[in-house]
Parts: sequence; C-alpha cells; structure tokens
Amino acid sequence: MEVRVDLDEAAKAILTANDRGGYTVPNGRVYPFQWNWDSAFVAIGFASFDPDRAWREVERLFEAQWEDGFLPHIVFWQHDEGYFPGPNVWGSGRTPPTSGITQPPVAATAVRYLWERSPTPAFLARLDAMFPKLLAWHRWFARTRDPHQLGIVVAIHPWETGRDNSPEWDEPGAPIDVSQVGDYTRRDTGHLDRKMRPTKLEYDRYLALVQFGRALGWDQARIARESPFRVADIGMSMILLRANRDLLWLAELLGHQDEADELRATIAQSEAGIDFLWDADKHCWCSRDMITGRSSGFVTSASFLSFYAGLSDPAKDAAMLAHLERIAGKVRYLVPSLDPQDAGFQMVRYWRGPVWAVVNWMISTGLAEAGHDSWAARIRQDTLDLIATTGFVEAYSPIDGGASGGDDFSWTAAIALAWS
Ligand code: DGY
Repeated sequence: MEVRVDLDEAAKAILTANDRGGYTVPNGRVYPFQWNWDSAFVAIGFASFDPDRAWREVERLFEAQWEDGFLPHIVFWQHDEGYFPGPNVWGSGRTPPTSGITQPPVAATAVRYLWERSPTPAFLARLDAMFPKLLAWHRWFARTRDPHQLGIVVAIHPWETGRDNSPEWDEPGAPIDVSQVGDYTRRDTGHLDRKMRPTKLEYDRYLALVQFGRALGWDQARIARESPFRVADIGMSMILLRANRDLLWLAELLGHQDEADELRATIAQSEAGIDFLWDADKHCWCSRDMITGRSSGFVTSASFLSFYAGLSDPAKDAAMLAHLERIAGKVRYLVPSLDPQDAGFQMVRYWRGPVWAVVNWMISTGLAEAGHDSWAARIRQDTLDLIATTGFVEAYSPIDGGASGGDDFSWTAAIALAWS
C-alpha cells in the first residue's frame, strides 16, 4: 500500500515537473515540445488528480489543428535547440510551428475517459467544443489515409506510427532515396545511449521523408499518393477503430444523430475491411506495405491491439492468445514490442524489443473488455512491477526489466496513475 502511494506521488511529481503551462513535454531533455499521442495519455494521467488540467492538455493540442482536420505529431510551442529535427527542418509554415505528419489517434479515447471520470456540466461544455475537432481529425484520416476505403490507416512516415524503428518499416523503407539528405547532427544520441536508439540509416530515411513532405509543401493528399513510404499500420488502424467507437459513444451522448450515423458507417467499413491486415501465414495481425502489397509478417505489440479495437473473431482471437502465451514463455515482462523469437529482437533498442507502458495499457484494456481477465491482469501487473523496480522510464527490457530511453517519462507516469 505504502509503495502504491509513493508511486502515485512520484508519478504526479513527474507530470507536474514536465508541465510547460497547458501542455506536457514527454521528457524535458529528449522531447522538449508537445507530442500528439503522448498528450492523450498524459491527459488520462492528469484525470486522476486534476481533471481541469487533463482537459487543457487535449485542448492545447487541438489549438494546433490544421483547417482540414489534420493534427500534427509535434507542436513546437517554444524554442529549444535540444531536439532535432526542429521547426526549421519541418518548414510547415504554421503558427504555432508544427511537424507535417500525424500520430496514432488516441485523443477521442482519452476524451471519453476524461468525461467518464468527471461528467460535470462544466466539462460537458468543453466536450461539446471538442467533439467537432475530434471528428474533423477522424474524417481527415478517412479522406486522406485510406485510399481503398478499407477503414484502415496508411502511414507515410515511421514516426507517424509512434513505433519509429519497428522492423515493420525496414523493407518498406529500403527504396527511400537517402542520397540527398546531407549532413545533420542528431540530438537524441547526445542525450541517450546509441544502442537504445534508431540507427543512422533509419534516421537518414526519416529525414528523407521529411524533406519529401516539405518539398510538396505538406500537401497531405499528394504525399499520401506519392510518398515512397506508404504502409498500412496495424497499430494506427486498430487505435483509430477504437477511437471511432469512443467518438460514436460521445456523439450519442451529445445527441449528434447525423454524426453518429456517419461513425457507425465508418466503423462498419473497418470491421469489414481490416481483414486486409490479417496475415494468414503468421496467424497474426500485421502491418502491410501498400506499395508492394506485402505483409510485414512481424508479430509486434501492436498486433495485440485487436482486442482494444473491439474486434472479435474466435479463430483470430485464439491465434493471438496463442502468440501471447508463446511470448510469455520467453520473457519475464509482457508485452515486448517485438516477438522475442524474431532474429531482430533487441531488448533495449526502442521498438525492437522493449516494453512500453502505454501500449500495455491499451492491450490490457482491450483484453479485459474481451473477457480475458487473467491476461489483462498479468500485463497490468508486469507494467506496475517494471515501474516500481526501474522507475518511470521511457521503456523497459522485457528480459531483465532494465531501462531503455529517457527517464522521468510523462506517459509512463500517466499509466501508473491510470492504474492506481
Ligand atoms: C523522435 O524524435 O524520436 C520521435 O519519436 C519522433 O516523433
């Protein structure tokens, strides 16, 4: 009990220290701006002790929304030389300056969470104001990132997926021309051990894609058609499906009948189309390259988000639980970001092995909703054990629980509070 109280206090102290006045930096040194999906989880954390501040986090993020509904992955609210690539590299020409790519759409799920924690008249007014902004972003996804109308999300940059260096992007990234990228100085490896970060080749590809988008003036429709990197991401697709269900719930609450009908149709489209991302050879949900049509074949932590997405198919669910059981036999802590039996598994390299608290929260939430209580409890407990033993770091080795990435991490603190 004492440990629990201490953990909560430590988590609150991290959110408070990383608060920059209405928005929270993921980590003060490595990520000194506002990140899109980090803020959604941070809001969930604030909800446990400061609901007003929780709403402010999401509202602040949406202040940077573009007119067409697009919501950028970074908002550069202030100047900071500690991060690369900064606003001058992105060249989005916006005020405030932003990046030109988006991130997994967790915000609608966070907003429903905030409302359910504190359903008061004052927050109803804020919910009413937030609803059209969320809907505009979700419509943008449907319009811009779902070329075959399958109800999935096609990412045009590995950073959009949030799982930057997952091996899912290796083969689709190979044709990216990095010959014109030029010299640059990374800041991440100045703050963190190289062995926990993406490689130079991966960074060259990230920057080539930024330069590509910038050269097209961040014309999102053209980028979606012409980008050399177009991958249907299993993580973003599952997260959007879940977020659409939560947005539908909010539409019904607010009495928006037409929007509710529209969302029902969008959800039905995903339920019918998302099988495109089922890899029948691997018996697993996998990302798929839209240019070659090939499935990645990788079993990653994102594969297990099918439960969170509310999908239910006895054969597929059984196959996913069998993967979970197999993986649980190979690691001490669930859920590693990459199958530990994969040759490319690395226990502390970012999204090639480490456990991430936010992904565990989504997986565990989905498993609990689907009635798989013991798996849900196991993942929750593993996450809390990791936090209690190693601290509020960015990610954790699934083998020995060691730290990967930055310390005092906002979204890890947020998940500790959500599970308190
Ligand atoms: C980074 O810079 O490492 C970020 O993940 C990009 O969003």
